[in-house]
This record gives sequence, C-alpha cells and structure tokens, in this order.
Amino acid sequence: MDYKKIPWWEPRIGSKQERDNIEKVFADNYANEGKLTTQFEDVVAKALGVKHAIATTSGTNAIFLALKAFGIGHGDEVIVPDATFIATANAVTLAGANPVLVDIDPATLNISTDAFKKAITGKTKAVVPVHVTGRGADMENILGIAMGHGLVVVEDAAEAFFSKYKGKYLGTWSDAGCFSFSAAKTITTGQGGMIVTDNTNFYEKLKPLKDQGRPIRGTGGDDAHNTIGFNFKYTDLQAAIGLGQLDLVGERTARMKRTYSMYKEALSDIPGFKIFDIDIAQGGVPQWVDALVDRRDELDKFLKEFNIDCRRYWNPIHQQKAYPLPDDNFPNSTKYLPKALWLPSAFFLTDEDINTVIGHIRDFYL
Ligand SMILES: Cc1ncc(COP(=O)(O)O)c(C=O)c1O
Repeated sequence: MDYKKIPWWEPRIGSKQERDNIEKVFADNYANEGKLTTQFEDVVAKALGVKHAIATTSGTNAIFLALKAFGIGHGDEVIVPDATFIATANAVTLAGANPVLVDIDPATLNISTDAFKKAITGKTKAVVPVHVTGRGADMENILGIAMGHGLVVVEDAAEAFFSKYKGKYLGTWSDAGCFSFSAAKTITTGQGGMIVTDNTNFYEKLKPLKDQGRPIRGTGGDDAHNTIGFNFKYTDLQAAIGLGQLDLVGERTARMKRTYSMYKEALSDIPGFKIFDIDIAQGGVPQWVDALVDRRDELDKFLKEFNIDCRRYWNPIHQQKAYPLPDDNFPNSTKYLPKALWLPSAFFLTDEDINTVIGHIRDFYL
C-alpha cells in the first residue's frame, strides 16, 4: 500500500514575495551583502525588540563571531551542554577556545544549571546555553551565575527563532543571541545565521570581524583594515529569500504550536511515551516536537513502514570521536538522549497528517 509521505521536517522556499525580492537583486545587479541584508537585519531586530541584528553565513559562525567579538580565544574555556547539535562545540573550537561539556537537565534536555556552575574554573570565560528545540534554557539562573563569575553568555538560539521563554524572546536574554537559517529551521535562506544584541559596543566589534576588519565597507582596494577580521558576510541573494520567509513566520509558528498541542493531548496517556513540556501560553514555539520514548528505534522503524519520518536525537557530544569523554560525567545525556525522538513537525503538515501519526503511535504502544 502507498502511504502519503509525512516528513519529520522539510523547508518551503519560493514564495511570490521571495521571487519578487530575488528579481530585484537581479535588476540591481548586486548580490553581495548590501541594502537587502541591512533591511533583513532591521526587520528581525525590530520584530524581536533588540537594537541590533547582524547577519552572517551560518548559525555556527554566528556563535563563533559572538565569542570572538567578546575576546574569547586561545586557552579560554567555554561551557557547552552535552546535548546539542555539535555545531555549538565546534563554534567554540573555531574561536580557538576549549569547549567544556556539561550534563543536561532531563526534564528539558537543556544545560543543567547545576552542572554549569560546578564546571566553572579560573579559565572559564563564557557559557553557551542552547535552547533545545525552541525550549528555553534556565536563563534567569544561568545569567545570575554568569554575572557572579564575570562570564559572557552567548545564547545558541539556532532552534528558537521567535520562540519565547517566560514571555521574552529567546536570543534576547543575554548580550548575544545566535540564530540559524539552515534548512530545518522556522525560516531558511539555505544557509545563514544572525546575531542579535542590545550591546552597541559589541555590535561595533562584530561588524569589522565579519568583514576583514573594515569598519567601513569600501572597494576592496585602498580600504582601512583597523583590526583582524574575516569574511563571514551574508548576501543580498539570501536576504531576498529571508525577507520573504519572514512574512510567513506567524503562520508557521502557529501551525507548529498547534501540531505540538495535538500530539500532547492525544498521546499523554501512553505509558513510556512522554512529550516534553514547552510553555506555549508564554510564547514557546517547539521547533520540532520531541518526546522521551521507550523502544525508540523500534518505534522509528515501525513508523517508517507507514512512510512517517521521525528524527532520532543527537548522540551526546561526549560520545562523538571529535570530543571523546567518559560517560560517567554525563549520566543524564548518556541515559536520556538514546530515548529521545523528534516527531513529524513540518509546518505544512495538516491536522489529518498529525492524526495519522498519532494513530500509528497509539497502535505501536497500545
Ligand atoms: C542547536 C544548534 N546549534 C547550532 C546550529 C548551527 O547552525 P548552522 O547549521 O546554521 O551552522 C544548529 C543548527 O544546525 C543547531 O540546531
């Protein structure tokens, strides 16, 4: 039997607005970072209620640039949760610092505040809390501890674009919030990232850092390069798509919340199957709906027989060959990540699709 494909996620690009914007880029014959990128940054900054937004090539590079602009580098330690896409740790490494992995809170899969506190040493310069799947990390306490130790807080909000925690947009809690516009995010520009901040001094450092140390863009000829910088500029081609995608954020996040509520309501009675909490009433947007489930891999395989795609959670970073460490230091990520699963969450899925998934999950367990 042919079952309709129900993807875990798929991007949608190519709206009329995106196409019109791209035509404008062609008409202007200017594809590099320019006016449209500035417009994209301004719209995001205004929508999130921050002073500055700065576009860059990826979420990974947004985190890298933020750390670098805060002067973090060789010999410094940066605390990172063990449960995240490995990009978070890699961004720290790219900055020349050492990522220090810490365990997670099993209730949220976000960084454990306690483990963060215990990992602080004389070399610690920053912490990068990750808002896993749009669920806010324990920001008040993390900020309090960081302030007490003079640490920088850079939020990895790659999965939390327009998601709120306790009524405040994630990415705007600290000095630097970093977003990703890769394909599996609420809006995509193919690749891309953005840093948001209210700190003008920090913003003024970021700009030349992503543009070869130039405070003012010139011709690439006799420009002044006052500091060391690199090329992490965005392009107007991407901004053309990004501006069009932004128009769709409201309807996309509304659907993502509805999908979450439907799963939560229909699946909460199954023993051994627990959808993680996210406070939708306070503005939380589940990037993808996740659950802690018994017999995870069997369930995943079972759903695939019906053309339903889930995504298994990341393996703990400490188990990757890139950053190997013993399990003993990470009892929670070691125990819980192998049971965690993202359910089909694409923002174009219909109620009928979600009910189909629900029916098969119930059949599997009950
Ligand atoms: C939690 C997290 N951090 C960082 C990143 C890196 O973003 P990018 O792929 O845009 O570099 C991603 C997404 O890919 C992510 O999910």
